[in-house]
Amino acid sequence: MQPMEGKDPLIIAIDGPAASGKSTVARRVAAELGLVFVSSGEMYRAFAWWVTSKRVDPSDAVAVVDLLVRTDFVCGEKEGLGTVAVGGVPMTRAELSAPEVNAAVSAVAAIPEVRERLVAEQRRYGLERGVVMEGRDIGSVVFPDTPHKFYIDASPEVREARRRAEGIADSIAKRDRIDSSRSASPLVVPDGALVVDSSELSVDEVVARVLAAVREPARR
Ligand code: DC
Repeated sequence: MQPMEGKDPLIIAIDGPAASGKSTVARRVAAELGLVFVSSGEMYRAFAWWVTSKRVDPSDAVAVVDLLVRTDFVCGEKEGLGTVAVGGVPMTRAELSAPEVNAAVSAVAAIPEVRERLVAEQRRYGLERGVVMEGRDIGSVVFPDTPHKFYIDASPEVREARRRAEGIADSIAKRDRIDSSRSASPLVVPDGALVVDSSELSVDEVVARVLAAVREPARR
């Protein structure tokens, strides 16, 4: 299977709650298929970092949107991974997973204007080259027409434990609540998505299920 099938780019949408393992799985699937891996959460995180670094209150939607319209996003690629620069500043993983970003990102991502802008960036990027993109609304909003949609889940206990093991301070339950209950593109299982519960599965097993479904959609 080639990244571009005919003239349509191959787009694989992987959604799920925080710490469900979707990022690790998406990265591996992208490497297997020769596609670029994009974490849409990193784009929301990058903007949340910009908001906090400019000392804008993340819960003040008017101030956040005022900053948004003055901000440039540049999405690129390095060694198969999507990269993002905000306001000319290339983001590193350390910045993107800082505690103040974890605390601000769900509020920033709930603002419709922020979503509209980042969804447009995500569509443009994916359609240019083919991608494995993971997030909360990739199969439901960003690429609703792709036949390759997955929803990776895991129990809240397993997800909290994964974040603790990574040494990351993150309030999973609180973010779940905000991400699932917001009115703009809440986290949902997209229509037609294959749901995989990773609580009791290894990463290899989840990756194998996703690859099998991409290669042989009829056997789902
Ligand atoms: O996947 P992540 O935990 O890095 O995502 C960070 C936050 O960004 C998450 O709490 C909700 C938001 N997000 C979103 O609203 N829509 C997406 N497609 C991806 C992430």
